[in-house]
Amino acid sequence: MKVFVPRECREGERRVALVPESVKKLVKAGVTVAVEAGAGAGSFIADSAYVEAGASVAADPSAALSEADLVLRVHAPTSDELDRLHPGVMLLAPLASTRNLDLVRKLLERRVTAFSTDAIPRISRAQAMDVLSSMASIAGYKAIIMAADALPRYFPMLMTAAGTVLPAKVFVIGAGVAGLQAIATARRLGAVVEATDTRPAVKAEIESLGAKFVGVETGEEAQDAGGYAKELSQEFYRRQGELIAQRCAASDVVITTALIGGVVAPKLITAETVDRMRPGSVIVDLAAPGGGNCELTRPGEMVERGGVKIFAPLNLPSELAFHGSLLYSRNLTAFITAFWKDGAFRLDLEDDILREATVTHDGKVIHGATAQALSKEGAAP
Ligand code: NAI
Repeated sequence: MKVFVPRECREGERRVALVPESVKKLVKAGVTVAVEAGAGAGSFIADSAYVEAGASVAADPSAALSEADLVLRVHAPTSDELDRLHPGVMLLAPLASTRNLDLVRKLLERRVTAFSTDAIPRISRAQAMDVLSSMASIAGYKAIIMAADALPRYFPMLMTAAGTVLPAKVFVIGAGVAGLQAIATARRLGAVVEATDTRPAVKAEIESLGAKFVGVETGEEAQDAGGYAKELSQEFYRRQGELIAQRCAASDVVITTALIGGVVAPKLITAETVDRMRPGSVIVDLAAPGGGNCELTRPGEMVERGGVKIFAPLNLPSELAFHGSLLYSRNLTAFITAFWKDGAFRLDLEDDILREATVTHDGKVIHGATAQALSKEGAAP
């Protein structure tokens, strides 16, 4: 099997889908790896490091792409690249297929077997392949670094000759992967941290990191069968809105990460809540890719209102490119090697990880939610 790793072309992307450590592992298993010249440059990985690991460096990416059996990417391929894929080729990348139906149509037309990293189920057997968790953890870490950089205060408590400085107060909304890493990072920097989540199950995790759980008591079932947060009643959101407004007003930094069903970002911080915050405070809205948790968020921009800065970064993992690439690469390698048997990649659609991660195969849509989204548009094959 020939694996090809193109250089990412999206503006601002510095990660690469495979690092030399993973190349060595794949080559040892019998895979042939070609990497586009300069693909690792944004992550400070030289072409020579790929060659040392056993890959070839492709000076002509078009030729390497048309010869590949499996293409690995950090972002979905461009329409131009899709045109150069031969029928039957496999693609492993984040496709957000329910929202990118034109891309799905193109994959069907080109008869690509496409696996979406964001559709890999979050089950224990697939933990080592969980790209969403690796990248969300980076986002949580970076959000705190960003907030600490923008905050006109210290994070830790300091006893100085000029007297005591009180620690910063950080409030984290949503204690999933990104939120828990934000809590841990803020604690390491010495802040006093509070966190809230609709799923009571995370209270113990928040407390084990040395933060305080604040929440609204509810008799409602807060999570679905997949462990994701569910949409709750209007009454719940009204009471939660009051709690959030109060805790934001008392905090120097707010990190917000809330997602429903793994996709939708609820609006939890109103403009009035921002107006109640102290000038100089900072909000980092990690849910920006889904529209944001704050009413004032502008995805990809920084908005300032009444001295409160609201950051809405869209691609923090790229800013930690070295480790972003390393973890992403390890996740993809775990996926490939899990289904690598007797010198070939075995596409077994009875396997629950493969069934859920496969978006298209052999001109058909395999991914249930994508098939539904297509049929809603009246365009299902
Ligand atoms: P996750 O699904 O593990 O966590 C989301 C958490 O929000 C869950 O614990 C859920 O229970 C909680 N939640 C839902 N509704 C809530 C509410 N009303 N109040 C409080 N908590 C609520 O998601 P993960 O993987 O931690 O990702 C978090 C966010 O980070 C996502 O929005 C994701 O898009 C974003 N992200 C952003 C990046 C960036 O560069 N901006 C990069 C990677 C991820």
